[in-house]
Amino acid sequence: MEISVIGSGYVGLTTAACLAEIGHRVLCADCDLEKINSLKAGRLPFYEPHLDDLVKRNVSSGRLEFTLPSAAIQKGEAIFICVGTPPLENGEADLSSIESVARLIVSSAHGYRIVIEKSTVPVQTAKRLWKHLSIYNANGLEFDVVSNPEFLREGSAVEDFFHPDRVVVGAESSRAIALMKEIYAPVLRTRTTCPVHSQCPSMPEPKLILTDTNSAELVKHASNSFLAMKISFINLIADACEAAGADIEKVAEGIGSDKRIGQAFLNPGIGFGGFCFPKDLQAFVRIGEKLGCDFSLLREVEKINVRRTEQFVAKIKKELWVLRGKTLAVWGLAFKPNTDDVRFAPALNIIRRLMAEGAKIRAYDPEAMQKAKLDLPEVTYCESAYQAAEGADAVLVLTEWSEFREINWKHLGELVAHSLIIDGRNLLSAEEASSNGFQYVGVGRAAAQPLRPTGEPKWTEAITAELPVASHPLSASSQAPPIA
Ligand code: UDX
Repeated sequence: MEISVIGSGYVGLTTAACLAEIGHRVLCADCDLEKINSLKAGRLPFYEPHLDDLVKRNVSSGRLEFTLPSAAIQKGEAIFICVGTPPLENGEADLSSIESVARLIVSSAHGYRIVIEKSTVPVQTAKRLWKHLSIYNANGLEFDVVSNPEFLREGSAVEDFFHPDRVVVGAESSRAIALMKEIYAPVLRTRTTCPVHSQCPSMPEPKLILTDTNSAELVKHASNSFLAMKISFINLIADACEAAGADIEKVAEGIGSDKRIGQAFLNPGIGFGGFCFPKDLQAFVRIGEKLGCDFSLLREVEKINVRRTEQFVAKIKKELWVLRGKTLAVWGLAFKPNTDDVRFAPALNIIRRLMAEGAKIRAYDPEAMQKAKLDLPEVTYCESAYQAAEGADAVLVLTEWSEFREINWKHLGELVAHSLIIDGRNLLSAEEASSNGFQYVGVGRAAAQPLRPTGEPKWTEAITAELPVASHPLSASSQAPPIA
């Protein structure tokens, strides 16, 4: 099928390249001419595993082309709208780019089109889009509006396209439904080869969920808000583990082994980031208000997430006391591994807080340093995790890149000024750190004291003894009124 994809960001470019890979002829368009020219020259605006090869392969096969929106809209029978819907000041989603694409469609397309919403939009947007297209329909265009929300994750976007749990289609016409089935047929019946796996692991066939546009739109916001809630929940439980002396790994395993809950998204840490969860949560809270629904539960999810930054900084201060003049090594800047994306990254929030306290930051990330430099030019960016650790009073693990697990502890021990690891992602083994002479502090798990090569504790009990907590600003007791 001849398909146009308007918008060449994460969702647009990945969708365009994957649709071409499953055999469609795809025109990927963007109003940013410079971006289109870079793409034509084979330069991708972001790092995403497998996407580079996919784009190159499909451009050379002639199935994928880059162009401007007006040209694409005249060609493709199906038009995927994948433009950005960034948050406005008040947290609502900015839909102005969607509206301009709609205007372009009715002013330059002829015959029939299905207009497919793939950007994350508030419920009832498809209805509004249909109305807008009808009002400005100068050329008697025949069209249907479809909602087809995206669930791909950065860092595994290509894999998520080829192995989705579900494909959600919100449409009111059988013609549109038939075309959507045709578009996704190779993925739905897993007939296609997948560019990620040489041999795809056997997975259940993806579910095709057919519904109305309002329900399809709500699936997206509700799914992201639920996942964010699950993360805030496990972070809350991690706090309880720290206070009670329990082990969050075991607790999460105990909770997640219940099929009704599931193990996924129960990894505690420094909070969720990225360009989706924070903004989708905010937008959904606003939608709730407009619909007259009390979404205070989601406000709590947001509050818990924002608090993670302060809690992590408090952890560092508890070990290092005064931060002014201290050198802190930061391992990981991206909001999660396998991406170069630092938008709303918890690591950057924490670094800003630490620098405000006068700490010096030496940072390393395998992919995200270029983008982090734009936000935080004052940080010292290093060639390797080891270079970042030189002279450090503590090593902070803020993104769980797997390469950080391959530590040469002896070498690291020779580089740091103080053998302290504060692991905001529970990536490393407390036992391994301790047996290599490092003090280890994780999230929701017992801290580990450094051992000598003989296995004896490096420090006396007096040194490791906890200072009596007066009224720690973040401890529950300082917030709750005394129980009568
Ligand atoms: C998310 C949704 O997963 C995806 O379906 C949607 O299409 C877009 O938004 P993404 O933002 O790429 O995808 O990242 P995701 O893997 O969901 O992680 C989001 C954040 O949650 C990251 O900061 C990650 O570190 C954090 N996270 C995730 C946790 O802190 N704990 C977990 O258990 C899982």
